[in-house]
Amino acid sequence: MLAICPGSFDPVTHGHLDVIGRAASLFDEVIVAVGRNSAKNYLFTLDERLDLMRQVTGEWPNVSVEALDGLLVDFARAKGAGVLVKGLRFASDFDFELQMAHINAVVGSVETVMLPASSQWATLSSTMIREVASYGGDVAAFVPDVVARQIRRKSQGMEHADG
Ligand code: PNS
Repeated sequence: MLAICPGSFDPVTHGHLDVIGRAASLFDEVIVAVGRNSAKNYLFTLDERLDLMRQVTGEWPNVSVEALDGLLVDFARAKGAGVLVKGLRFASDFDFELQMAHINAVVGSVETVMLPASSQWATLSSTMIREVASYGGDVAAFVPDVVARQIRRKSQGMEHADG
């Protein structure tokens, strides 16, 4: 069975990779769909997020990485995927994901499988990583080395905007 792991992955964290790796062992094939959420300000461009995701998922032969444009359920149908995989951390994730699962089931006849985040990464968020990184803080504990290096390179070229 083919499953899709969607997200912004800005940046991809050890928590995302934990969920993607577990999905890769549960399903025959996994497509990581890297998308754009109009409500978010991104640190990395879509091309950078695709490139980083490809580098850090290279160890899994049944995982591929593609750009997501448009509705997730249309993407799933075009790929012939019947399942979306979502990682869950806290109750607020569940409340949001339950709503999405219901609408995606009706609009796109697609199932959603929710995997609980592993305890080690249960409170990790890309938003907080972006915040710490924007002040030049060290986020190396939470992301793969290649991502940490790219963040350092970016933040050397940026100064935190005050007010
Ligand atoms: O969890 P994220 O990182 O905000 O997810 C981003 C993304 C692009 C995967 C998500 O916003 C998405 O699926 N966008 C496509 C539009 C869509 O299908 N939205 C869900 C139905 S309301």
